[in-house]
Amino acid sequence: NEIYLQGLGGTTPAFTTDLTALEESAAKLLTPQALGYVAGGAGSGATMRANREAFDRWKIVPRMLTDATERDLSVTLFGRRLPAPVLLAPVGVQTIVHPEGELATARAAAALDVPMILSTAAAHTIEEVAQAGGSGPRWFQLYWPNDPDVTASILGRAREQGYTALVVTLDTWTLAWRPRDLDQAYLPFLKAEGTAIAMSDPAFRARLAKTPEEDLPTAILQWVGMFTGTDKSWDRLSVLRELWDGPILLKGIQHVDDARRAVDAGMDGIVVSNHGGRQVDGALASLEALPRIAQAVGGRAEVLFDSGVRTGADVLKALALGAKAVLLGRPYVYGLAHGGEDGVRHVVRSLLAELDLTLALAGYRTPGELSPSALQRG
Ligand code: FNR
Repeated sequence: NEIYLQGLGGTTPAFTTDLTALEESAAKLLTPQALGYVAGGAGSGATMRANREAFDRWKIVPRMLTDATERDLSVTLFGRRLPAPVLLAPVGVQTIVHPEGELATARAAAALDVPMILSTAAAHTIEEVAQAGGSGPRWFQLYWPNDPDVTASILGRAREQGYTALVVTLDTWTLAWRPRDLDQAYLPFLKAEGTAIAMSDPAFRARLAKTPEEDLPTAILQWVGMFTGTDKSWDRLSVLRELWDGPILLKGIQHVDDARRAVDAGMDGIVVSNHGGRQVDGALASLEALPRIAQAVGGRAEVLFDSGVRTGADVLKALALGAKAVLLGRPYVYGLAHGGEDGVRHVVRSLLAELDLTLALAGYRTPGELSPSALQRG
């Protein structure tokens, strides 16, 4: 209504409301390197395509005369009520698409009361992003360093700054074969854009022979080297539990046995995700992994979902297949590229409005009413 009313005064939206078209227009705004990094996937791109094809295979079967005139999109996650079942996925190095990077994203998220999940690979520090986000809900995503002191220090900072839930990403302990980045010999982390959190960390700095100010390349290589190795295991998750008293979710779960294992290890939630097709080429579509996992662990842990969400209908489908909420990834990054804070706000508001209308027209009032019977494969 807001958009149509403004149209009476001759104003049309500053950015397209077709979120699937944003990638194309972002291509004109970004450097080839930044575009390749954001839009690219692993290998042949098969997993990325599969993510979208899976959404296309599931169809919504609308119900009539259900009186869905009044809707309530809110959900409660770990004791906090969210306005909608949507969070902003952790995305690192956001200054490659807009100079204000994560600060703009944090402001947009806070304005809408939508949780932002801050990446370990952010281009701004934990403290700066927390300040930008004010009283908005914030979660922290951990790429898990091998060094326990560095892990403890980073998590301590996050807790201190009011990050409530911890998302531990397991699928990226090394980077996949990503042709678009390889062909341009481009890795933003090696240009300092994704190391703000590490370089500002006292425990990490104590490990260095020379400070990052004296020798940044060596410091970056030492940081990147902290992620591969054999010292992580299901048993070691107890270390994280000792360091974090809030909810912990494991991100990157695709196999139902791993989902069960996460719950058995005392985790509070999982994020069913294949990292937007950026890690294992030829992998299962994340949406296809969702129903079995939701069925197996649904009542025992919160099941969140990402990889391929582009529209309100996509959110509805993921919720119907068992997700409690979804993480929005690339689309908000394209919003950031288009218009900084305003661009992110536009994308999230558009998605939520589209979800609201799609839910209504499908015949439902709340996310909780959805079940697999809302869909059919066809
Ligand atoms: C990511 N993703 C990601 N995940 C994570 O846990 N930590 C990170 O730092 C990043 N960084 C990152 C950068 C970029 C440019 C992209 C596109 C993605 C993965 C992200 O959280 C999410 O899983 C995917 O973006 C979901 O896929 P779609 O919906 O974006 O295709």
